[in-house]
Amino acid sequence: MTSKKTTLVTGCAGFVGGHLSHRLLKMGHTVIGVDDLSSGNQATIASLHTSPGFCFIEADFTSPGLLDRIFREHGPIDAVYHLAAIISIPYSMEHPDETVATNYHGTSALHADCRKLGVPTFVFAGSAAEYGDCIMLPLREEYADEHVSHLSPYGRSKWLATRHIERSGYGCTLRFFNIYGPQQPTNSPYSGVITIFASCALQGKPLPVHGSGCQARDFLFIDDAINAYLMAAGFDGLKPLSGTYNVATGDADYIATVAKMILHISKGGKIEYTIPRAGDICWSMADMRKLSATGRFTPTVTLEMGIRETMRWLALQSPTPQPPGHEPQATD
Ligand code: UD1
Repeated sequence: MTSKKTTLVTGCAGFVGGHLSHRLLKMGHTVIGVDDLSSGNQATIASLHTSPGFCFIEADFTSPGLLDRIFREHGPIDAVYHLAAIISIPYSMEHPDETVATNYHGTSALHADCRKLGVPTFVFAGSAAEYGDCIMLPLREEYADEHVSHLSPYGRSKWLATRHIERSGYGCTLRFFNIYGPQQPTNSPYSGVITIFASCALQGKPLPVHGSGCQARDFLFIDDAINAYLMAAGFDGLKPLSGTYNVATGDADYIATVAKMILHISKGGKIEYTIPRAGDICWSMADMRKLSATGRFTPTVTLEMGIRETMRWLALQSPTPQPPGHEPQATD
């Protein structure tokens, strides 16, 4: 049986950080959540506060001495999940130095503090953006270190941090591909395509497919992403993971296929093809052999199941009553 742990989650007010914190609390662990609320959601913090094991610190994770203060006030931490970052790609283009300072230098400093204070587990949220313009599919972890030109300071800063962690031999990076699911914001720079399409379908609006829709992505449902975070920490008696691992399904779907699946589930609606998105990469798909070889992770949620779950959640948020026959149908 898993013993109760004290964990630190940076970026706990974000879509993924909120889900991770909720799951850790549900398992009986203590969660110290850090977020500066620059892109996270106050409502997520409010819902986390309903659990007695949750403590929130509103702070920028790069604040000097933050980890020392947490240790003084809460005692030793068993695992640090570092998800806080500048995540907007357009913002990173306009503020490259700030992005590198936060996502790379800030992460390196937190990583060093964790090591110095003897935190057994450090898990960093990497990104498929670390592969930049690499077109060799499926994407293997080492491709990010070979002849890649990063498409944004965001991608470069994540890669620099990953490389730092890898070289140190302490901690791991989970390099996530396209995560989607309930609670992903519908109307923000961080909205993913599935959430955008599902929201449009539920409102009876056309689904805006950029370009031909022949772009493809490796979509991972949020619950599977959280499973990956949990297995990486090795709470169940296994050693914490070390190194860099893709986390995805190892399969990719065309954007047009996703749109058609959503229209099928919502029983109607149409696609509107729009101009291609500037700087869009065409295909992205992970090579999952490295993580699979650990025997610790297998995605469990199919794209259709995940989309239905996302739509069910969105329908509950929607202020607009759905016309009869347009409610998302339950899956078996
Ligand atoms: C995603 C991440 C990004 C990360 C990158 C790494 C999200 C929201 N973004 O970007 O943070 O750095 O992976 O590779 O997860 N599309 C439409 N219509 C829309 C919205 C999108 O057709 O209304 C298309 C896009 O043109 C793109 C695809 O859907 O081809 C996926 O877009 P998006 O969900 O924004 O994800 P990524 O571009 O892969």
